[in-house]
Amino acid sequence: MNVARTREALASALASLRASGSTALVPTMGFLHEGHLSLVDRARDLADSTLVSIFVNPLQFSPAEDLATYPRNEARDLELLRARGADVVFVPGVEEMYPGGDPAVTVSPGPLEERLCGRYRPGHFRGVLTVVAKLFGLVRPDVAVFGRKDFQQAVLIRRMARDLELGVRVETGPIVREPDGLAMSSRNAYLSDEERAQAAGLHQALSAALIRFGEGESSAATLLSTVAGEVARFPLLRLQYADLVDPEGLDPVDPARPGSVLALAAYCGATRLIDNVELA
Ligand code: PAJ
Repeated sequence: MNVARTREALASALASLRASGSTALVPTMGFLHEGHLSLVDRARDLADSTLVSIFVNPLQFSPAEDLATYPRNEARDLELLRARGADVVFVPGVEEMYPGGDPAVTVSPGPLEERLCGRYRPGHFRGVLTVVAKLFGLVRPDVAVFGRKDFQQAVLIRRMARDLELGVRVETGPIVREPDGLAMSSRNAYLSDEERAQAAGLHQALSAALIRFGEGESSAATLLSTVAGEVARFPLLRLQYADLVDPEGLDPVDPARPGSVLALAAYCGATRLIDNVELA
């Protein structure tokens, strides 16, 4: 496994990979878990070579967010990626990624930013799209793989690739969960034992609504109040939003249909967590 820390090292690693066929990119911010690694497995199925990037992107954190404390463990990440068969890992520093400081030209998420998390994290998706566009430019992958855990992010990246004709196929992978249902996340490392136990309540709340939908309930208001009611049973959870949206335009839907996505964000103590389920 080749670890590239500069653009030059990346370019030379890519030159040999390209000679042997197609490439898949899995962008990450590191502190890897089974959710990330499932995307690496998927990437290996989709292309001849797999490249993973690890970069905690300052542009997508607001000043009030956790850039300084975001968990990192590069040595462990590289071990996990080696074991999982990644071919190249790109680990740029901030100067390498943004030489000369923040970019003057950035990617605007457009109206999709007004949905779901976008309303609560101004500038976040602009930062995400800008770094992903840069990674696409540096790596020029045939395919890139993202997790459905970050549902709005995956939708926006797919739209960016299409609307800006970036020539990258965007694929998504399912949410990988802990045994109690909590969606895996690098930020779960912030949770105290008590918070960690209650965090599973988010998936329980989504599952309760999923069951009601399965029993024939299709009113958005009823499904969303089921979620809110379930979350309220856990004193350490504070719901930021729960929305029922269509999976492409992220517009609110009512009545719910199979394929609609029920998405939420909540604080568990001081940690902001997100989760979603597709109605089926
Ligand atoms: P990060 O949070 O490290 O996530 C990297 C990728 O792993 C994303 O596509 C995310 O959706 C996916 N992922 C995270 N948890 C997952 C889980 N439990 N199951 C399945 N997939 C999961 O998302 C980012 O980094 C950044 O915004 C990035 C796209 C790298 C741009 O900086």
